[in-house]
Amino acid sequence: MTGDYTPTREDRFSFGLWTVGWQGVDVFGHAVRPPLDPVETVHKLAELGAYGVSFHDDDLIPFGADEATREKLISRFKTALSETGLVCSMATTNLFQHPIFKDGGFTANDRSVRRFAIRKVLRNLDLAAELGAPTYVLWGGREGAESGAAKDVKAALDRYKEALDILCSYVIERGYNIRFALEPKPNEPRGDILLPTIGHALAFINTLEHPELVGLNPEIGHEEMAGLNFAHGITQALWHGKLFHVDLNGQTGPRFDQDLRFGAGNLRGAFWTVDALENGGYTGPRHFDYKPPRTEDIEGVWVTAAACMRNYLILKEKVAAFRSDPAVIEALEAARLHELAQPTLGEGESLDALRAEEFDPDAAAARGLAYEALDQLALEHLLGVR
Ligand code: GCO
Ligand code: MN
Ligand code: MN
Repeated sequence: MTGDYTPTREDRFSFGLWTVGWQGVDVFGHAVRPPLDPVETVHKLAELGAYGVSFHDDDLIPFGADEATREKLISRFKTALSETGLVCSMATTNLFQHPIFKDGGFTANDRSVRRFAIRKVLRNLDLAAELGAPTYVLWGGREGAESGAAKDVKAALDRYKEALDILCSYVIERGYNIRFALEPKPNEPRGDILLPTIGHALAFINTLEHPELVGLNPEIGHEEMAGLNFAHGITQALWHGKLFHVDLNGQTGPRFDQDLRFGAGNLRGAFWTVDALENGGYTGPRHFDYKPPRTEDIEGVWVTAAACMRNYLILKEKVAAFRSDPAVIEALEAARLHELAQPTLGEGESLDALRAEEFDPDAAAARGLAYEALDQLALEHLLGVR
């Protein structure tokens, strides 16, 4: 254990303005913290060792602000970025807070709302391009329903596809170096949200006119709300070449979206998530999308931001130690991982050869797989006793 978990720019940690800036407004309570100036956030994140910042249009420029205010706010933000060297690593649109989006943006039954939503995204895409953000996230938190007949799901998916096709064409036409990342979530704020999981979103991408421009931004808590294994989900996204971005946070099983700091909640899940990212070929930012609990004042907020990065680095070290431990290498061998990496049919081998093979199913079935010994080694690394 080295004990030095100080983040550097090379670690590529990033945070949304809305994460540390969350004032604690929830369905049961008022704000517990004053607003945080995005300029202060940029300076503080840089000081803590982050490399990037992401934002919703409305985090930076309040909804309905006039042109002069907009220009002033953008210019202050740009100055903060250049003073600190922080990059704008991702941008997104707030299509959920204003009452106009109560039935969604891209899939609202009201056509004029859909047209307004697209205008709002186009405007912020221009800003994203200006700030150099390579990824544009689309989280459709209000795209969904609470009841059966109120949403024609097929028509809604047609409109969702239409919106994505429009946005991709726009990016191509403008020559922007931007790709889109869909963020699945099963529910909350809508009773049921469209594109609820990684799997639904991957299948949807295949229907688009420019599937190459669209990938995923999966969030730990969202998959775990659906009872799914996040490390498996992002590994499948990587396998499809679709893990464009990631939202790291903490969640304790299927319940409301907790958005805890990374490492809190399902710690074993976090260990395998870091393993999947570090050893699975992910090259994007390690982005934290969490909400500092309402119990914290602003000092506590910065404690949670530092903790997200520190926990990632601690887990990264533990994962590396696990992967290089000779006992683990031996246990992986015993668990036949090398066999899984081999094609089931040998090169040039005919099905006849496979069919003619002598095999004793009872003898094979009697073999233990030794997975528990392997998992115990992982647990002991995580617990810090190896
Ligand atoms: C959530 C979501 C949001 C989105 C963000 C980007 O917690 O439900 O993660 O935080 O990621 O708004 O649009
Ligand atoms: Mn969330
Ligand atoms: Mn998120």
